[in-house]
Amino acid sequence: MAIPFISAQEAAEHIKNGDNVGFSGFTASGTPKVVTEALAERAIKEHENGREFKINMFTGASTNDHVDGALARANAINMRTPYQSSADLRKRLNAHDAHYFDLHLSELAQKMRYGFFGDLDVAIIEAADINDNGEIILGTGMGISPTIAKMAKKVIVELNDAIPQTIRGLHDVYLPADPPYRREIPIYSASDRIGSPILLVDPAKIVGIVKTSAKDGVKGFADLDEVTMRIGANVCEFLLRELRAGRIPKTFLPMQSGVGNVANAVLHGLGESAEIPQFEMYTEVIQDSVVDLMLKGKCKFASTCSLTFSDDAMDKVFSNMEFFHDKILIRPGEISNNPEIVRRLGLITMNTALEADIFGNINSTHVLGTKMMNGIGGSGDFTRNAYLSIFSCPSVTKGGLISNIVPMVSHLDHSEHSVDVLITDQGIADLRGKDPVQRAETVIENCVNPEYKQLLWDYLKLGKGGQTPHTLNAALAFHTEFAASGDMRNTDWSKFA
Ligand code: COA
Repeated sequence: MAIPFISAQEAAEHIKNGDNVGFSGFTASGTPKVVTEALAERAIKEHENGREFKINMFTGASTNDHVDGALARANAINMRTPYQSSADLRKRLNAHDAHYFDLHLSELAQKMRYGFFGDLDVAIIEAADINDNGEIILGTGMGISPTIAKMAKKVIVELNDAIPQTIRGLHDVYLPADPPYRREIPIYSASDRIGSPILLVDPAKIVGIVKTSAKDGVKGFADLDEVTMRIGANVCEFLLRELRAGRIPKTFLPMQSGVGNVANAVLHGLGESAEIPQFEMYTEVIQDSVVDLMLKGKCKFASTCSLTFSDDAMDKVFSNMEFFHDKILIRPGEISNNPEIVRRLGLITMNTALEADIFGNINSTHVLGTKMMNGIGGSGDFTRNAYLSIFSCPSVTKGGLISNIVPMVSHLDHSEHSVDVLITDQGIADLRGKDPVQRAETVIENCVNPEYKQLLWDYLKLGKGGQTPHTLNAALAFHTEFAASGDMRNTDWSKFA
């Protein structure tokens, strides 16, 4: 039987207050775009009539403004997991209007299949193509699509004609078996294909197809500035040092790169360096900089969960598919971020910190200890299992009012045990094989902004011993000083002596 075409409003009627709803895609890429706008309008009307209307949202990662933005503005989200990056949703999470379960991205799909979050009522899946047998060619991001397609009681498909049909063949759809039947995932190099280019959904579950022509609308990056360029150059310098010393093989190792402006600058730096050999990426997102690295011949292959390209970069790729077709694979998040594969392939992982402490602990998520920024994303999946884990960040923020290197992180995402190297615009701190005091000395000497160096040396001297010589009542003094005077540089240790 033919699957019916329906309107976005008709599709939204299938979703009820309190439903668990799964979404395809990863970042703005491959994420639905129209049904959620209709759902948000419906939620607003329900609220106006004094009725509750909120859903529980399960996604691959962050989404787009049509999903997190629209539903947050409509206050239609009860629970959200595993990652977001929307300004409107951030406000809801920090005000507890929505409950946020911030989770390692590789873990969500399997935890859903284990039944930890109950049944999945509806899945909304973006498709480049679909036939009446339920064979779907996905869009530009895969995320948790294989799991939600399997679990959902009802499936709504958004058929998007803005996605070129040439995307066919880029996907590698694969669902691992769950314990106690799981076997090794047979990926032995970044380009190994292990699944199918097609997502198969039971057509009896598909309640309708909604047509759309909306593009992913991925935002571009801030222009590279002096600070981000210097971080990129320092990361390259460190990698070259390792390569020359033979600690990275001459053939290089696959790389993972995080999200954001700093990550973009690091990749730009790699492209500029003549001595860095051709490399592969095994990562969760590829951004515009990777398109240029591929065109330059620097990046020869990228395994990813999404093509998080601006519209311009997307056009560049889809108009030159003969070149890109054998250089990209789009995988589910639980495979792109899989700890087993990260460890096996020996990934060099490069992620961004909001703040780091002198002992090597990392806060990636909470601004000044309390406000959620985005979430841990895949940074933990990669960092903990890396061949070499690198964190980078600018040494200061807000014109120097905030030091990104602090005595003690105000929230912990990645502990000292998982961080090999810390890099800022000031330099490189290699933490491998060092005890906490040696780590602190290396970080202060190499990574801290000159305006904060003496303050941090003085903090270290304040300590009265112990393996990690913290002075507990002073450990968060940078943060309390910022709250009091708006400038961490005013911290006065004499109060704690
Ligand atoms: N204290 C307070 N605010 C801080 C801060 C600090 N220590 N460090 C940064 N900020 C502010 C910046 O000033 C900026 O504020 P603005 O939006 O008002 O300009 C904002 O935080 C973002 O900083 P920016 O330097 O532009 O960050 P970015 O784009 O490089 O992203 C992260 C950095 C950490 C937010 C981002 O990488 C992230 O969400 N990481 C976690 C998930 C992850 O690592 N995923 C990748 C896995 S593959």
